[in-house]
Amino acid sequence: MQQDLSYRDLFDLANDAILITSAETGRILDANRQAEALFGYTREELSNKNLRDLLHADEPDRVEQFERQLATSGCGCGMTADLPYLAGDGRRLVLNVSCSVQQISGTNVVTRICRDVTRERELEGELSRHATRMEQECDEKQRQLLESQTQLMQAEKMAALGSLVAGVAHEINTPLGSVNSNNDIFALTFQRMRDFIRSHPPADRADAEKELADILSIVDEAIQTNRMACERIVKIVRSLRNFVRLDEADRKMADIHDGIESTLILVAHELKRRITVVKEFGNIPEIECYPNQLNQVFMNLLVNAAQAIEAEGSIRIRTWRENDSIRIAISDDGKGIPRELHSKVFEPGFTTKKAGLGTGLGLSICMKIVQNHEGRIDLESDVGRGTTFTVVLPIRSRAKATSCETPATHTAHN
Ligand SMILES: Nc1ncnc2c1ncn2[C@@H]1O[C@H](COP(=O)(O)OP(=O)(O)OP(=O)(O)O)[C@@H](O)[C@H]1O
Ligand SMILES: [Mg+2]
Repeated sequence: MQQDLSYRDLFDLANDAILITSAETGRILDANRQAEALFGYTREELSNKNLRDLLHADEPDRVEQFERQLATSGCGCGMTADLPYLAGDGRRLVLNVSCSVQQISGTNVVTRICRDVTRERELEGELSRHATRMEQECDEKQRQLLESQTQLMQAEKMAALGSLVAGVAHEINTPLGSVNSNNDIFALTFQRMRDFIRSHPPADRADAEKELADILSIVDEAIQTNRMACERIVKIVRSLRNFVRLDEADRKMADIHDGIESTLILVAHELKRRITVVKEFGNIPEIECYPNQLNQVFMNLLVNAAQAIEAEGSIRIRTWRENDSIRIAISDDGKGIPRELHSKVFEPGFTTKKAGLGTGLGLSICMKIVQNHEGRIDLESDVGRGTTFTVVLPIRSRAKATSCETPATHTAHN
C-alpha cells in the first residue's frame, strides 16, 4: 500500500491547501487539490497566476511586510501568519499560512500550507466585539452606580445639614422664649417694687432710696444686657431658618444678599475672629431660584475660603449684575489651588484635607446646585496668593427641584 503512494498523491491528499510559489517572482508553480477547492480554480488556472492575484487588497502593508520578511529570511526558514486571501468567487478568505523557503534545482521556492480560518476569525472578532461591548456596558453601569452613590451621599449630607440646622434653630428657640418672657416678668416685677417702695417710704428715706436706686440700676442693666443677648439669639435663629428656608422649598424670587448675610452669621465660628470679611454688594435684582440650595453653595464656598487661610486673612464677597445674570465672587487670600488641580476640585470625593476634616463633596454639591440653576462656577487661583470662586446665576432660570434640595424633614416651631 505504502509503495503505491507517490509524493504527488501525498501532496494531493493533504488536508490543507498547498501552494508552491517562486520566491523571486511569486509565480504559482504548483498547487494541490485542496488548493483548487479552497481558491475555486483548477490547477492549470492556478499555475497561470501569481501569488499577488490571490491576495486580498485590504491589508497591503501587513502582507507586503510578511512577504518581504520571507524573501530575506533565506532557505530553511519558516514563517506563519494569518493573511487575507481572495477566492475565485470574490470571497475574502482568512488563511493561516505556514511558509518555508527551500532551494529546488537551484531556484528558491516557497511552500505555503494554507488552512482556512475565516469562520474562526469571524467568531473570534464577534466574541471580542461582544466582550468590548460588555466591558463598555460594565463601565457605564459602574459609572451610573458611582453617580447614584454620590447623589445619595450628597443627599444624605444635605439632609443631615438641613435637619441639624432646623434642630438647632428649634432647640434655641424654646429656651429663648422662656428667657424673653422672664425679661418681661423682671421688668414688671421691678416696676411693682418701685411703685411699692414709693408708696411705703422707709424711715431713713434718703439712704434707702440711694441704695435701692443702685440695686435697681444694676438690675436694669442686667435686663438690658439680657435683651441684647436675646436679640442676638433671635437674629441667629432667624438666620438659621433663613438658611434652610424649610418653609420655602419651592422656586421663588429671592434676594441673594439675604442668603449671604444669613450664611455669614452661621459660619462666624469658622472665621474665629482671625478673618476679616469685606462685603462689596452691588445693585442686583432678586433672582428666580431655590434660595435654600444657593445658601448651601455660599456656605461651602465660605467654609472652604476660611479653611484655606492658615493664620489671619480676609475674605471678599462681591456681587454684581452682568446682562441677564448676577455674579457672586468669593475671594480669599489663602494658600491657593495648584493649576493641575483646578478641574479636580469639583470631582466628588476629591479633598486635600485630613481625614475627618473634609469629605470632598462641598464643591461637587455647589456645582450640581449651580448647574441646576443653569449657572456656572468659575475658578481663579494662584498658589500662595489666594482663590476666587465666581458663581454666575441667570436672573430667570428653569431650576428644577433635585436631590440637592434640603429635605424638609425637621420643621422648626415657635
Ligand atoms: N478656597 C480654596 N482655597 C484653596 N483650596 C480650596 C479652596 N476651595 C476648595 N479647595 C480645594 O478643593 C478641595 C475640594 O473642596 P470641597 O469643598 O469639594 O471638599 P473639602 O472642603 O475638602 O471637603 P468638604 O467640603 O466635603 O468638607 C479641598 O480639599 C481643597 O483642596
Ligand atoms: Mg469644602
